[in-house]
Amino acid sequence: MQVFHSIADLRLFLKNQRQQAKTVGLVPTMGALHEGHLSLIEASREQNDVTVCSIFVNPIQFNNPDDLARYPRTLDADCAILAPAGCDAVFAPSVEEMYPEKASLKFDFGDLERVMEGKFRPGHFNGVGIVVSKLFNIVQPDRTYFGQKDLQQVAVVRRMMIDLGFQIELHPRPTLRESDGLAMSSRNRNLTSDERAIAPHIFEGLNLAKAQLLEGQKPTEVKAMIEQHFSKEPAFRLEYFEIVNANTLQSVDEIQATNQTAMCIAAHLGKVRLIDNFVF
Ligand code: PAF
Repeated sequence: MQVFHSIADLRLFLKNQRQQAKTVGLVPTMGALHEGHLSLIEASREQNDVTVCSIFVNPIQFNNPDDLARYPRTLDADCAILAPAGCDAVFAPSVEEMYPEKASLKFDFGDLERVMEGKFRPGHFNGVGIVVSKLFNIVQPDRTYFGQKDLQQVAVVRRMMIDLGFQIELHPRPTLRESDGLAMSSRNRNLTSDERAIAPHIFEGLNLAKAQLLEGQKPTEVKAMIEQHFSKEPAFRLEYFEIVNANTLQSVDEIQATNQTAMCIAAHLGKVRLIDNFVF
């Protein structure tokens, strides 16, 4: 496995691969890798000759400086698990390499970003749009792999790919969970052991909500139940719980058999912000 810090070196490597008619898969990440990321690497390996994993903590998608400062940076450990997983190239640029000048482009994803993550993290999806489109231009992959834990991110990236005409296949992959149901996330490692013990409260809430919806309860009733569920664990601060159309991400008043529904949640536990979702 080769590790590249410069765009020019990575481009040279990829040019060489393409001259041998090799296909390229890209797994964009911010590092602090876990099994969820490895499942993306595995999917890319199955479908491409060459797998590139980018590791870049993208400052412009953080609206909270403390969150950016606390984000785990573990490049050596990440490389130590990527190599045996069969990753061919790691792209780990510095901030100066990615942004030699302050990016001034502004993405506006309309209604897709006025809700949930976009509403509570102003500017977040602009930062994601800029970095992902830049990574697509640098790597020019045939296929790219994203985790569905970031459901709204997948929707925004899909929109961007259609609007900008990227000829790349987008492969969203299911969320991986710990044995107690907690969705795998790089941020989990910032939880204290007490916080980690109660973190599955989110997964339990989603299960209760799903059961109630399937029994025919109205979204407003289920939302009230979730608020109640979180009031029992004062260590949590529920930021949002939304029941939405899985494609448009807009809230629904009724569950429609013809549309996929998603339940999306964000909650603060101590200093850590966790998100999760169920799609059904
Ligand atoms: O999901 C992430 O880790 C990041 O948002 C991404 C897609 C790598 C862009 O920085």
